[in-house]
Amino acid sequence: MLAGKRIVLGVTGGIAAYKAVEVCRRLVDGGAHVVPVMTAGAEHFIGRTTLSALASEPVQTSLWNEASPIPHTRLGQSADLVLVAPATARLLGAYAAGLSTDLLSNTLLATRAPVVVCPAMHTEMWEHPAVQANIATLRSRGVHIVEPESGRLAGGDLGHGRLAAPETIVAKVLEVLGAGPMAGLTVVVSAGGTREPIDAVRVIANRSSGKQGYAIAAEAAARGARVTLVSTVELPVPHGVEVRAVETAAQMQASLGELAPTADVVVMAAAVADFRPVAAADGKIKKDQGVPQIILEPTPDILTGLGAAKPAGQVLVGFAAETSDLVANARGKLERKQLDLMVANDVSAPGVGFQHDTNAVTLLRADGSATTVALTDKRSIAKAVLDTVCEIRATTT
Ligand code: CTP
Repeated sequence: MLAGKRIVLGVTGGIAAYKAVEVCRRLVDGGAHVVPVMTAGAEHFIGRTTLSALASEPVQTSLWNEASPIPHTRLGQSADLVLVAPATARLLGAYAAGLSTDLLSNTLLATRAPVVVCPAMHTEMWEHPAVQANIATLRSRGVHIVEPESGRLAGGDLGHGRLAAPETIVAKVLEVLGAGPMAGLTVVVSAGGTREPIDAVRVIANRSSGKQGYAIAAEAAARGARVTLVSTVELPVPHGVEVRAVETAAQMQASLGELAPTADVVVMAAAVADFRPVAAADGKIKKDQGVPQIILEPTPDILTGLGAAKPAGQVLVGFAAETSDLVANARGKLERKQLDLMVANDVSAPGVGFQHDTNAVTLLRADGSATTVALTDKRSIAKAVLDTVCEIRATTT
């Protein structure tokens, strides 16, 4: 997916420099030609030999290379993308100010290729107004910033500033180069359980955590798709994913009604309430009014509506949460709702479905085939679902 792409990988002096090795390996595995450039600071943290061995050519560190008298212009001009991971506060400052102090900062000034910068530093440094001003300047010039994450920092303390995960950095590179296997595709995913109001404070809810839907959205974005997540829950937003917050089945239906007609893939991972109160009481129902009689009515079946209106070529995926007769029930729903793929899970099995970090599913296709994915983390389930979606697309488009 990165075949033929020439990526300059700049590594600066921070503890996270060791993670650049993994980023480099993933880019090379993806087919990229990786040209490594290290600053003097980076050499305090990782050895040249390691990066040279894994990259596509030896590490360069100096402007004064006898073989190539002007390496920075050659590197900058020939790159399809320049990636800096990790980027120290010093590098951000030099780049924002237009200072050419070493080979990497010269290359950044000499390139017209897209630039992806992945800062990593201590929380106090990251939050310093000078650093934030430099980030804002770089962003305003079109530099792509992969924000640092929260977690354990070099001193053992917890905070914001840790280098983003290698897969997040590579996903950004793929996105910027438009090179992922799902590049150009529009994917819509729903996630979480809907909440149907009883009164001003109470709702009818369900146990869905939204984690499986978020994992699918994250995986689709990592594969280069444009992803919108229609969600009832607040989980960390996966990199490159746009979230539309909804609460009720009606709101989810309205949002999907807008997004689905132009989507290439729709994945309905949300647990939609089947019934809702006919009308939510004004204010809070009080105890002294006696035990309330809550009259319910069916909610719209969103997925049935999407199946009936499915545009040609779209792959429509549903989820079936069952506690018995898994395959028979799920296949019935696949047919009734006119789906291309049904992800069936037995939510009564240990570690499966609602609220867990793991899942086990049977993937049922409209052509009658079925595959099972044994208990694993939800990201791996997401990969299996999207692999199947891509296979279906390959046979129908
Ligand atoms: N679904 C939906 N709208 C509803 C109910 C369900 O779009 N009002 C979708 C779910 O998001 C899921 C699929 O339909 O992708 C199957 O949901 P599930 O709860 O397993 O099945 P139901 O059709 O609701 O049937 P039952 O609850 O009777 O098993």
